[in-house]
Amino acid sequence: MTSLVVAVAENNIIGIQGRLPWRLSDDLKFFKHLTENHVLIMGRKTFESLPKKLPNRVHIIVTRNKKYNLDDDDCFVVSCLDEALDFSKTFFAKQTFVIGGGEIYQQALDKKIVDKIYLTKVKAQPEGDTFFINANWDNWEEKSRTSFFKGEKNEFDFDIIELIKK
Ligand SMILES: NC(=O)c1ccc[n+]([C@@H]2O[C@H](COP(=O)([O-])OP(=O)(O)OC[C@H]3O[C@@H](n4cnc5c(N)ncnc54)[C@H](OP(=O)(O)O)[C@@H]3O)[C@@H](O)[C@H]2O)c1
Repeated sequence: MTSLVVAVAENNIIGIQGRLPWRLSDDLKFFKHLTENHVLIMGRKTFESLPKKLPNRVHIIVTRNKKYNLDDDDCFVVSCLDEALDFSKTFFAKQTFVIGGGEIYQQALDKKIVDKIYLTKVKAQPEGDTFFINANWDNWEEKSRTSFFKGEKNEFDFDIIELIKK
C-alpha cells in the first residue's frame, strides 16, 4: 500500500521558497504519528527543506544528481520514482508514504501508484510558489474527516481527510 500525504490550501498552494506556507502544529503531530517507523519517499528539494532528518523513518530521496550522497543509515538516494518504489518494497513490514513536494506528488499521481491520500485541506489562500496540481478529487472517496481550528497552535482552520481510490 502506497499513501500520499499532503497539506493543500484552497488555492492549491503547498509551498513557498522551499518551506511550508503555514504553521499547523496539529498537522505536524498527525504527520509524525502517521509516518513514524515507516518509509518516506520525497524529492530532493523537500528533503533539503527539512530542518533535520525525521527520526525513526526511512528516507528515500529522489534526485537526478548522480553525485548526491548522504552518509546516513536512514537516508537512501535514488534516481527516479520507480526506483524509489521498488526500493521501498524491500522494507517488508513498513508502509510507504509519498511526502512531496510538488514534482513528486504529480509524478506519483500520474503514474497511479497511490492507493490512499491523507489530505490536509488548509482553509486559507496563502502566497506560494509550489502547487498540488493533479487534484482530480472525483477519483477519490472520502473515508474520514477530522476538523481542527485556528488558535495558538494552528495558524488556520484545517480538515484532515482520508481518501481511498474509487
Ligand atoms: N504542503 C505539503 O504537504 C508539502 C509537502 C512536501 C513539500 N512541500 C513543499 O514543496 C516544496 C518543494 O517541492 P518541489 O516541487 O519544489 O520539489 P520536490 O518535489 O520536493 O523535489 C524536486 C526535485 O526532486 C528531484 N526529482 C523530481 N522528479 C524526479 C525524477 N523523475 N527523477 C529524478 N529526480 C527527480 C529533482 O532533484 P534534483 O534537482 O536534485 O535532480 C527535483 O529538483 C517546498 O516548498 C516544500 O516545503 C509541501
